[in-house]
Order: sequence, then C-alpha cells, then structure tokens
Amino acid sequence: MFDIARIRADFPILNIQQNGRPLIYLDNAATMQMPVPVQERILSHYQTENANVHRGVHTLSQASTAHMEKARHTVAQFIHADDDEIIFTSGTTDSLNQLSRMLESRVRPGQQILVSAMEHHSNLIPWQEMSRRVGAKLRIIPLDSRGDLDRDALRQLLRDSTTLVSVAWVSNVLGTVNPIREIAALAHDAGALLVVDAAQGMKLGPTDAVSLDCDFMAFSGHKLGALTGIGVLYGKKDILDMMSLVCFGGGMVGNVSYLSSTWGAVPQRFEAGTPNYVGAISLGAAIAYLSSLGIPEIARQERQLTELLQQELLSVPEVEILGSPQHRSGAVSFWVHGVHPFDLGVMLDALGIAVRTGHMCAQPLVEQYGVSSVVRISPAFYNTQEEIKACIAALKRVIPMLKG
Ligand code: ALA
Repeated sequence: MFDIARIRADFPILNIQQNGRPLIYLDNAATMQMPVPVQERILSHYQTENANVHRGVHTLSQASTAHMEKARHTVAQFIHADDDEIIFTSGTTDSLNQLSRMLESRVRPGQQILVSAMEHHSNLIPWQEMSRRVGAKLRIIPLDSRGDLDRDALRQLLRDSTTLVSVAWVSNVLGTVNPIREIAALAHDAGALLVVDAAQGMKLGPTDAVSLDCDFMAFSGHKLGALTGIGVLYGKKDILDMMSLVCFGGGMVGNVSYLSSTWGAVPQRFEAGTPNYVGAISLGAAIAYLSSLGIPEIARQERQLTELLQQELLSVPEVEILGSPQHRSGAVSFWVHGVHPFDLGVMLDALGIAVRTGHMCAQPLVEQYGVSSVVRISPAFYNTQEEIKACIAALKRVIPMLKG
C-alpha cells in the first residue's frame, strides 16, 4: 500500500506556501525534490565522515572512500550492473559529452550516428559535434504521428553503416517511453552500439541496464532525489576497457613520469580529479530511499498520475497536447492557441503551481509541432490526484483570462 501522506512527510518542501497558496510542485522532470533521509545522510557525512577519497591512509579518508564505493555498489545493484561499470560524472549531460569523446576514435568518416527526433539537446549536440569532428553522418530517426519512434524508419536507417544509436528512454517533452530492448536488438544486429539517455527513465522500473541490453546508459542524481552535480555513466565492462580517456589528472593514474603516464583501473581511470563523493553518497541514499518505497509501486503511481493528467487535459478544449504515445510516463506537454506558454506558467505560479515552460531543451522536437515553446506538467509519485485536478482547474480558470 502506497501511503502517500507518510511519503509526503519525507518532503517538507511540499508543504510550503508559494505566492500565498499551498505549493503544487509539478516540475519533477526538471528536478525531483530531496527526501529528508537523503538530506540527513548528507549532513551526517559532513558531521562524521568527510575527507577526500582515494587519497589518504588516515581513517577518515578510508571511511569516506568506503562510503563512496558503497554508493557505487548501490547504483550498480540498482541497474543490475557490476561496480566497475559505474562511472560517476556530474550529470547526464556530462556523461553524454564524455562518452562522445571516449567513442570518437572508434568512429570512421562516413559512418552513421543515429539519434531520435525526440532527443534532449544533451543527447543531440554532443553527437553533432563529434560527427563534425570525425566526418561522420548524424541522421535523425523520425517519430510517427503519435510521437513514438518510427521503428520501420530505424530499420531502414540501420541498413547503412552505423556505429552508434543514441536514444532517450523517456522523452522529457512527450513522455514517450521507448522500447529499449527492441531498439538494442535492432542496433546490435546492425553492428552498432546503443546509448540510452535515461535521465527521465530511472523511476520506470525495472531499471535494469543489463536486461535492457544497452551498451551505455546515462542518468542524473537530482532527478532521483539526490544532490545536483552527480550523475552516472554506465558502460559494459568489455567496452569500457577499450575506451579512450578524455580527462586527465589526479586519481586516475597508474604511474606518472615527466614524459608519460599509465592509467589506473576502470572506472577510476575515467574519474580524474576529486570526484563528487558527497554527491555519490547522496545518490546511494536516494536509491535506497526509492527502493524502500518500491520502484514498481513508484512507477505505478507515476503512470496513474500521468494518465489522470492526460485525461484531465483532454477535458480542456483549448489545450493542444503534444503527441499521444502508446506508452507515456512522467510528463505531458501542451500549448494553447493564442496564449503564450510563459504567461500560462506565470499565472499558474501565481496560484502556487510550479510547471515548466519553454522549449524543454528539445527545440527541434517542439518546433516539429509548429510551436516554439510549450507548458509541461510532470508529476512524481509524491503528487496526489487532488493536486493534478487542482492544476487543471487552475488552467481552466486562467486560459479565458489570457485569451481575453
Ligand atoms: N532536462 C530537464 C528538463 O527536461 C532539466 O526539464
């Protein structure tokens, strides 16, 4: 039984007033709120354990290192991977940027890199830049009329020599959940690697990188209730062993002389400099918290709230929803003819309701729908049906005011 009142007590921010109204926080695709157990874990780290990791024989440094490595183990278990397949980064964007550099030497001029038409800029621009540097061809997998990935088009594109396919697990705009296992099979049959931008997928369950059979997976801690500035790049061990290094400095070496250096083991060789060990520990705590609630229950709750949100939005005649994917999770975006999305966002904010407006860092996708910006509502498991209904009631109230 999902005890929503008990769960909400773990998120004191959900009880604050915003502009004189009770906050209704529906911008969870941008960031999830941090539960108290994670906040307490960060505080206790600073109060009893803090020291730089992998650098000291003293007890405190050893303890700090052990806690960071325990967090790596928690992340690895969460996605059913091995500890040495988990590289800590500063977030999904950093993971994908680093990965594009790490893969660069494997890509030949003229080969294809495929990304989908629903990608966040973070899973588009790094591949644009890498393609430009090596002379590869970046091609876009189109969407069908519902906002699902066009699998026939993907099959067609894969007939040409393709080194890499990189797709979102869940679109941060449409909420489309992509069939990762099927895409992995198609990519692998064509001899390509599969990268998954899982920034929006990690609460879907099962969050199992191994059975999804992706070669790389990137995600952020702050969308799971951890600190900002911590993220993960998962990679299959045998591939990571062959990857080029892109960042050099302390903590990643074997032996260093003035003229040359050797490298440490994977994954530390990909984590130059002092890692964000407090971020990593917060991520371990966040995953432990989510797991204690049950990922399947969280996924079910978020799916039900998204379904309710979609139904309620359909009852507002002026609203144009982007896409109608077969499987939607976590976010619904829309626009209203004759009303600027920013104005809608400001009016909802005045009523205590936090939603995101803009192009959602997916400008080419939003423009395919003939608009330059949208409103996005993105519930999380700690939201209630009453909050969704209150948001839609507020929308019904403000649209006539803005349409004049
Ligand atoms: N990528 C985050 C979003 O879609 C910030 O809002």
